[in-house]
Amino acid sequence: MAEPTNRRFLLRTRPEGRVKRSDFELSEQPVPTPAPGEVVLRTRYLSLDPTNRIWMTDVEQYMPPVAIGEVMRGLGIGEVVASASPDHKVGDLFSGLVGWQDYIAVVPKAPGWIQLPSGLPVPLPAMLGALGMTGLTAYFGLMELGKPRAGETVVVSAAAGAVGSVVGQIAKLQGCHVVGIAGGPEKCAFLRELGFDAAIDYKAEGWKAALAAACPRGIDIDFENVGGDIMNTVMARMNLHGRVVLCGLISGYNSDQRPTGPFDTILMKRLRVEGFIILDYLPRAMEGVMQLSQWMMAGKLRHHDTIVDGLEQAPEALNMLFDGKNTGKLLIKVS
Ligand SMILES: NC(=O)c1ccc[n+]([C@@H]2O[C@H](COP(=O)([O-])OP(=O)(O)OC[C@H]3O[C@@H](n4cnc5c(N)ncnc54)[C@H](OP(=O)(O)O)[C@@H]3O)[C@@H](O)[C@H]2O)c1
Repeated sequence: MAEPTNRRFLLRTRPEGRVKRSDFELSEQPVPTPAPGEVVLRTRYLSLDPTNRIWMTDVEQYMPPVAIGEVMRGLGIGEVVASASPDHKVGDLFSGLVGWQDYIAVVPKAPGWIQLPSGLPVPLPAMLGALGMTGLTAYFGLMELGKPRAGETVVVSAAAGAVGSVVGQIAKLQGCHVVGIAGGPEKCAFLRELGFDAAIDYKAEGWKAALAAACPRGIDIDFENVGGDIMNTVMARMNLHGRVVLCGLISGYNSDQRPTGPFDTILMKRLRVEGFIILDYLPRAMEGVMQLSQWMMAGKLRHHDTIVDGLEQAPEALNMLFDGKNTGKLLIKVS
């Protein structure tokens, strides 16, 4: 049998517009061996996130962009296949920045690596979805910035995606009237199945009137994942002193134009618009995971995912986020 190798996607050129396979080089090197204190992880699942596209671009952002020639950065779950750490054994599972590659040697005690409990009662992908960074983004973004109160109206964009689908479910648990915006009738049916009070297909004619009809008492909280026309339309229907959780602006990530916002609406309606990056809440991650797990175990929170097979699919699969081809969390099953 051939020796296993470590396939790695190196960033070769900064993408213009959509990501292309030719923006990367797929290089192979020997599987690393662990230095004292290290373990070697074999990637099991890779999380594909809209922010991967931001990391490829040389603009000011919350982390340094990936350098040309570097392994593409990516969050994932890896399983220990070799250990030179007395505290960790083959089979242990870790979540962290595994990168777009098959294997990585890491110091498991270094910041950023989280060991997953053994005997997980949920499928592994949920640990990157509703119980992982995605769930934490939804939980802290909504609860800390949105501060939902029972009876308020919450609108979520990209609602059938990873973060949006969890935001809507949490907002329902807070007793809110929840309206999701998503592309297409299947995604809208999925939102109703999750318990959203209304689902608006922004690709259908008359969606703005449908949004108004679904929010008869106006909008108190906009959990914003998309930006552009969708954000402007939602903000125009907000109540005085409404809150906008500015979580993402995916409609602009493939563009080199800076996004603009409806500052006149923000002024006239005295909205509170707050930018949010989940990294600021990682010191409180355990609190979020405990709450999300309790809801999941009680059958009150569902994880849903779209899984693509094979590391080699990563660049093309990333575009699925921009084409709306995922429902719930988009992942690559690597091994
Ligand atoms: N601030 C943070 O810390 C943080 C953390 C995680 C994620 N985020 C942000 O949260 C947002 C959602 O991320 P996610 O990981 O949960 O991805 P996701 O929602 O699972 O996938 C992206 C979805 O966005 C929608 N979309 C893409 N382009 C669009 C466009 N031009 N107009 C309208 N909708 C569009 C698509 O759904 P449709 O089929 O409905 O169009 C697609 O399925 C992103 O903006 C991301 O950057 C922020």
